[in-house]
Amino acid sequence: MTEKITNRKIIEILEKNDKYCSHGDTVNYADPPKVFENCEGSFLFDENGTAYLDWQMWYSAVNFGYKNKRLADTMHKQIDTLPQLASQYLHKEKVDLAEIICKYMEEKYGVKGRVHFNVGGAQAVEDSLKVVRNHTGKTHQFAFMGGYHGRTLGASAITSSFRYRRRFGNFADRAEFVPYPYCYRCPYDMKVETCDTYCHKQFEKLFETEYQSVWDTKAKESEFGAFYIEPMQGTGGYIIPPDGYMEKLQASLKKRNILLVADEIQMGVYRTGKLWSWENFGIVPDIFVFGKAITNGLNPLSGIWAREELISPEKFPPGSTHSTFASNPMGTAVALEVMKMTQEEDFGAQVNKTGAYFLKQIQALKSRWKVVGDVSGLGLALRIELCEKDGYTASRELADRMFNEGLKGDLLVGDKKYGLVLDIGGYQKNVITLAPNLLISEEEIDLGIHLFEMLLRRCGAE
Ligand SMILES: Cc1ncc(COP(=O)(O)O)c(C=O)c1O
Repeated sequence: MTEKITNRKIIEILEKNDKYCSHGDTVNYADPPKVFENCEGSFLFDENGTAYLDWQMWYSAVNFGYKNKRLADTMHKQIDTLPQLASQYLHKEKVDLAEIICKYMEEKYGVKGRVHFNVGGAQAVEDSLKVVRNHTGKTHQFAFMGGYHGRTLGASAITSSFRYRRRFGNFADRAEFVPYPYCYRCPYDMKVETCDTYCHKQFEKLFETEYQSVWDTKAKESEFGAFYIEPMQGTGGYIIPPDGYMEKLQASLKKRNILLVADEIQMGVYRTGKLWSWENFGIVPDIFVFGKAITNGLNPLSGIWAREELISPEKFPPGSTHSTFASNPMGTAVALEVMKMTQEEDFGAQVNKTGAYFLKQIQALKSRWKVVGDVSGLGLALRIELCEKDGYTASRELADRMFNEGLKGDLLVGDKKYGLVLDIGGYQKNVITLAPNLLISEEEIDLGIHLFEMLLRRCGAE
């Protein structure tokens, strides 16, 4: 951003950030970093009280809106009863939450399993890697190009970007990265209408002879323990896989005793209109990992669900992993309330209804703007590809400009100023990935579309 900042309080925050904060623990995409002071529902507010409609909601951690009253009340109640407790002792909310998740799997999919808690998403990914290694004895995993699983050492090893590993030496357990079915920009230059999931056939080919290096044809054994997937890619650009792909992939893995691990950290908890995004694609993973919105971005809690034979106490004994804050009661209490709240009614149907309305609006946007190359959505996980005027060549520059302009908070609607909080993802960083409040109203969607078009105009996209 180029505008000169004059507010003394903001200048001080920025100066202290420059001087005292490591810049290694996040990326402040805006320059200088944006400061917010308040939030409510679908909006963030700056120091002047200007409202910024949030189309990103803390990377899909705040699925149920900022300051959601029911969830905030649960936190307050827990503060007044049992806010702190070492994980070695039990509390009711922990076991009730695990029960709800396990019963959902038993009743809907007929599989028994257990839930294992931790604090951050990447930490839960690490725990799942231990479960895989412990069960299979294998260090190597498959993962998708374009996949993101976090930034701890283990999670970086299965995250596709070399950029995240470059400074940190050898990753002996670096995953074998397989092209994700990104049909709009097919890695094999095929057309989805006619390819007959060519990419899956290429994956199958890896097992044809021992010389493809993943399969011992005599021992009938793979060097790989699991395939880590984001069923719908998040950071990779909110890409929906084509019909049938995930089912075929799971069949290929089952045939070779390779586990399927679904990372639900970003797309889980109703972002795609289902509790878990894998439920959209006809598969049932052996393990899935969750975090973020399970507590609506309040006290952090993450975890994994794994099939009983992978995680029974005999198989995965006490202390196989541990974190002081693993099943912290503030986290379990609010996560339990999230599960209760979403199971009282057909929450998924409501998300899909709002998602259909939102998708219609961005499809209309595509018909009005040449620079909008592709739009799609599942539930309330939606994408807008920004391009050159040919409608295909990726334009990172336009995405960056719109991102920065949206954070200025000076878009005039009537006599009120607004900002628009956008998130950029995708392989070429030209995709606006939309993760709005799941409780967003149609009026707020319309306002967002209006603000987005103001940004397009301002950034010279006409
Ligand atoms: C799909 C996915 N997996 C893992 C992670 C890592 O989670 P955390 O940032 O909580 O460590 C993220 C975070 O964005 C994610 O989107």
